[in-house]
Amino acid sequence: MRVLGIESSCDETAAAVVEDGRLLLSNVVASSMDLHAKYGGVIPEIAARSHIEAVMPVIQQALDDANCTWDDIDAIAVTYGAGLLGSLLIGVLAARTLAITKNKPLYAINHVEGHIYANFITETPLPYQLPSKQPVFPMLGVIVSGGHSQLVLWRDHFDYTLLGQTQDDAIGEAFDKVAKILGLPYPGGISVSRKAEEGNPTAYKLPKAKMQGKYDFSFSGLKTAVLRLSQELVGKDYSLPSYELQGLLNESQKADIAASFTQTANETIVDKVMLAYEEFKPASVVIGGGVAADPDLRRQLAERLPIAIEYTDRKLCGDNGAMIATLGCYHVMHKQPTADPMTLEVSPNLSM
Ligand code: KG4
Ligand code: ZN
Repeated sequence: MRVLGIESSCDETAAAVVEDGRLLLSNVVASSMDLHAKYGGVIPEIAARSHIEAVMPVIQQALDDANCTWDDIDAIAVTYGAGLLGSLLIGVLAARTLAITKNKPLYAINHVEGHIYANFITETPLPYQLPSKQPVFPMLGVIVSGGHSQLVLWRDHFDYTLLGQTQDDAIGEAFDKVAKILGLPYPGGISVSRKAEEGNPTAYKLPKAKMQGKYDFSFSGLKTAVLRLSQELVGKDYSLPSYELQGLLNESQKADIAASFTQTANETIVDKVMLAYEEFKPASVVIGGGVAADPDLRRQLAERLPIAIEYTDRKLCGDNGAMIATLGCYHVMHKQPTADPMTLEVSPNLSM
C-alpha cells in the first residue's frame, strides 16, 4: 500500500511516497528559505506564493522518483494543521483536487503528530541514515520544532496523551532568536547549533525555568537571559538594542554563548524526558521536529536514557512529506476516517 504525502505548513513545499508505513520511496522538498533570508524570518505571503509555484512540480517529482504513476498510489495524505494559513491552503487545495480528479481517498494529517512518525521509516533506497527498527509502544514522543515543544505518550497508534508543552516560545523559536542576537545567518537554528560545536557549553550559567506543570516547558526567559548576558559581556546596559550586539561580541564569545544556550535549552528538554521516562517506562523514546537534528540534544538523550535511542536522518527532522505519508499509511491501515475532498478545511491552530 502506497501513500502520497503532501506538506506545506510553513516554508517547505514537500511531497513523498511511502509504502506500508516503513519504506520511503521518494522525498522531495522545495524550500522558499532563500527568499525569507533577507527578512530574517518566514514571510507568510512569500511562503504561500512559493507554494503555489512549487506544489505540482514537487508532487510530480515525488511520483517520478518513486517510479510511480497515479495507479500505484492508494491514498493521499495532507497536512491540514498546524501551520500558516496561506501555506496550508495550497497543500490542502492541491490534495483535495487530486483526490477528486484521481479518485483517491484523502487523509487529513496533523503536522506535529507527523514529526514523530518520521521515526517509523526504516527502509529506503535513498542515501539516508535510518533507525534499524520501528519504535514500539508505549512510546514517548518528544516534539522539538519551531512551533512546538511537547511531550506526548502514545499507548498505540491514534491513542495518545499530551503530557506537557511549552507555555511560551518553542525551543526552535528560542534557537532562532538567539541566532538573531548573535548575528548568525538565517535559518537560525542550524547556525546556533553549528556555532555551539566550537564553544564551551559551561562558559556561562543560564537559567532553566521552573514550571507548575510537571511536563511543561518555558523558553522565553532563557532567550532573555542570553540577551542580558550578551549586553553585560560587551559592557553595556540593558537599553542597548539587541541588533547592535552582533558587532560588539567577538567570535569566541558568540561560540561560548551559543554552546551555553544550546546545552541549557536541550537539558531543559532532557530533564523532562527523564521524568516522563521514570513515570511511564516507555518501550521507545522518539524525537521529532527541526531541533531533533541538533547533535548536542542527541548526545544528551543518548547519555541519560537507560534505553537505546535511534535517530532518523537529519533530512527527516525538519518539515518533509515523508512523515506525512508515513502517518497517512497508518491512517489507512488502522481504518481511520477519510476526509471529504469537497470540504476539508485547514486548521492553523490545530493542537494534539
Ligand atoms: O520542524 P521544523 O522544520 O518546523 C516546524 O514545524 O516548526 O522546525 C524548525 C525549527 C526552527 O526553529 C529551526 O531553527 C530549528 O527547527 N532547527 C534546529 C536545527 N535545524 C533546525 N535547531 C537546532 N539545531 C538544528 N540543527
Ligand atoms: Zn514541522
